[in-house]
Amino acid sequence: MKVSTGIKNLDVIMDGGFIDKSFNLVYGGGGTGKTLFTFNFLLNGAEQGNNVLYITLEESWDDITRKLPDGMRKRLDAIRDKFHYLDFGSLRPVLGREIMEVNVLTEAIASSIVVNNVSLVGFDGIAPLSIYYEDEHKLRSVIFNLSQSIKSYGATTVFTSEEIDGRSRYGTEEFVADSVIRLTYNGTKRRLQILKTRGTGFVGGKHGLEISSSGLRVYPKLLFPEGKAKPMPESMGILKLDNMLGETFSGDITLITGPPGTGKYLFGLSFLKNACKHGKNGLYISFEENIEKIKRRLDDLGDSRKLCKVIYIDPKNEDIYKILWQLRALTKDTNRLVLHGMNMLSTSEEYEDFIHAFLGYMRARGISTMLTYSTTQIIATNTLGDEQIVNRADNIIKLLFAEIGGELKKILVIIKSHSPTHERGLVEYRLGKRGVVIVGKIEGMEGVMSGTPTKQMEIKKRVESFFK
Ligand SMILES: Nc1ncnc2c1ncn2[C@@H]1O[C@H](COP(=O)(O)OP(=O)(O)OP(=O)(O)O)[C@@H](O)[C@H]1O
Ligand SMILES: [Mg+2]
Repeated sequence: MKVSTGIKNLDVIMDGGFIDKSFNLVYGGGGTGKTLFTFNFLLNGAEQGNNVLYITLEESWDDITRKLPDGMRKRLDAIRDKFHYLDFGSLRPVLGREIMEVNVLTEAIASSIVVNNVSLVGFDGIAPLSIYYEDEHKLRSVIFNLSQSIKSYGATTVFTSEEIDGRSRYGTEEFVADSVIRLTYNGTKRRLQILKTRGTGFVGGKHGLEISSSGLRVYPKLLFPEGKAKPMPESMGILKLDNMLGETFSGDITLITGPPGTGKYLFGLSFLKNACKHGKNGLYISFEENIEKIKRRLDDLGDSRKLCKVIYIDPKNEDIYKILWQLRALTKDTNRLVLHGMNMLSTSEEYEDFIHAFLGYMRARGISTMLTYSTTQIIATNTLGDEQIVNRADNIIKLLFAEIGGELKKILVIIKSHSPTHERGLVEYRLGKRGVVIVGKIEGMEGVMSGTPTKQMEIKKRVESFFK
């Protein structure tokens, strides 16, 4: 049987939560959320009808509850009769170090568990035990005995310890514990990592953690898609482009990559507009601030606003795993999705995990996804810009500029598609009021991708004159 951790989304990556009657360690540096984690665990338990017990050895109960965020304090007020506490933090200055003697502690805890019929215990901060037990070996056996005692009364416990040099304070806690969770905070990002669960599986790696007024929430690094949608023929929404690609399907991932000014967003809008015309829902998410231009162009393309939404997500101030879970929620009723400006996200060190989870999920859900990526070089660029997407995309369309006849022309080239017979030539396109217009193939030129092409005949002539 499992006991809920009470933290949103954490049970999912812990195979249902804590094992019943287990002793679970949460450790981390100062301010990483250990106390609030413990509170969240107990609050949720009390809200489910359990009697819970909070034990503090360090800070006083008054200090701790004064610092609780408003939302959590309200939750506490609502279940106050089920929430019991032992305030050794206040008693210690009065009764001295002997209060930390294990028999005294164990007896007080045991009687509170029995008297109040407690099933969940939060033991916040074990550091003060070292005041009484200076010898490390002794301290280890004390923690072990304490865990055995609480377990024997049938309670499930979260206990906390500080992190020192990447380990929990005494090292021992990790061996005593049935599960170990590590919290970190670098001033901008909070992370939660499950390091061990006895007897059950868990999703490894670092997950996003958010503390808000009402409590804690985990943003797992995975999205857990259910089932697999059947691929159906799909359209890019641009005349002639479908033929050039050969074939496209729902659930496909299409990358549009190129320098600024090549109209990547219009490829995205045409893709959505076409879906909306056929009664499907389209969502355009931009990681670039200026979405007014995109909204205006969507209007220009026709009345699509009812089915096509345009949203801005700020990649600099949002956690990448939170964005991942936002995308999951936002695409609930979406058939086609455009993410504009993936380059704004790609600097995150967790970008690879994000792409893996996100693209796998969209593909499984059958949501056709177009991603635009802005490369920095205007002319003569060999890069596709994004290794992570390139490796996973079904279709890759590269946009570029080339100087032809004294004019900077827009060229597209299909790098990859499902079809082995896709168009291999370089194709000129224009951006018009009605979207992207395919002009035609560039014929008789060489070196177009270098940005400064020459006529094929000229090369031939030069080669001939060389051999003369
Ligand atoms: N309403 C809130 N919204 C967002 N963050 C909050 C809110 N209230 C508190 N926090 C954050 O929670 C963290 C404090 O959590 P907590 O007291 O649980 O940490 P701790 O690991 O127990 O710290 P210590 O080691 O000092 O005991 C702080 O980083 C604080 O900024
Ligand atoms: Mg604390």
